[in-house]
Amino acid sequence: MIRSVVRGFGAALPKRVMTNKEMESRVDTSDEWIVQRTGIRQRYIAGEGETTASLGEGAARAALQRAGLTPDDLDLIIVATSTPDNTFPATAVNIQNRLGMRHGAAFDLQAVCSGFVYAVATADAYIRGGLASRALVIGAETFSRILDWSDRTTCVLFGDGAGALILEAANGEGTNADRGVLTAQLRSDGVHGDKLYVDGGPSTTGTVGHLRMEGREVFKHAVGMITDVIEAAFEATGTTADDVDWLVPHQANRRIIDGSARKLGIPLEKVVVTVDQHGNTSAASIPLALDTAAADGRIKRGDLVMLEAMGGGFTWGSVLLRW
Ligand code: UT7
Repeated sequence: MIRSVVRGFGAALPKRVMTNKEMESRVDTSDEWIVQRTGIRQRYIAGEGETTASLGEGAARAALQRAGLTPDDLDLIIVATSTPDNTFPATAVNIQNRLGMRHGAAFDLQAVCSGFVYAVATADAYIRGGLASRALVIGAETFSRILDWSDRTTCVLFGDGAGALILEAANGEGTNADRGVLTAQLRSDGVHGDKLYVDGGPSTTGTVGHLRMEGREVFKHAVGMITDVIEAAFEATGTTADDVDWLVPHQANRRIIDGSARKLGIPLEKVVVTVDQHGNTSAASIPLALDTAAADGRIKRGDLVMLEAMGGGFTWGSVLLRW
């Protein structure tokens, strides 16, 4: 059977780092509160000329270089983002143009913080269905541009960045020993739409709007939803928590990450945590974490890697893949 195997990975971050100390000068907060409640110590903030497309392009070029490929070798680009450069054309098409790629298909996918999990699942379905043979999957965001910088309950949490994976078709045996995506589990429930949203949009206000969140409400649902889709991935593949080499979670809050791992019985040494460095970069957080742990040698070929995310919508999901 056809599997979607990881061929390359890459990431890009804005030049500017903003520490919690600097946040203290902007809103009524403290380094101690932010670290204790979220685990975040710093985040990267896009400056002039840095956009979702430019960061996505940077991540794409890093992934192509690592894979020893050129844009000619791709036939699909999916960009998971909630902060596109423009309402249209899609940021994916913008990146396609930046890469000088004139063939194939490119589109954006919007599932907020679960966007990267949704995008990997979508690329996998395209590859297994024969619609694509090599896909560039990017999570890229500039959440700093939709934050209300006077609202301390949200502005301290988010950051900007991009990460990318290249997935390519390869023959597998149809067992859990195969490399590539083994299962994807996606969920959404719009009844929670008012707990994490942006208060503007092209068809309502005609403006971009600002991020609004009832943090405590999101927190309340997070661990249960995350463990639900991870357990579904175990069930679909006949694997258990003991088989997982690395849990690479969406990086929203250290307490949510630790709570989920604990509930699943995955030891914290097997959990990749970058929220301290990047803050919550929404759809970019998982590929940024993958890039960090694969580049430093933790995630190795053949490792069983669980991705999970939960966010606005609500949307949530998991992907189990063998690296
Ligand atoms: O990526 C998408 C998914 N998003 C998430 O997963 C976010 C989920 N939620 C969270 O991570 C947490 O709920 C937060 C980090 C947002 C907040 O942590 P919390 O422990 O739930 O705090 P809280 O909202 O219950 O607020 C506790 C107190 C409040 O003061 P009072 O009412 O107890 O006097 C807040 O006003 O902390 C106050 N507070 C702050 N204090 C200093 C809220 N924000 C800040 C701040 N600095 N930045």
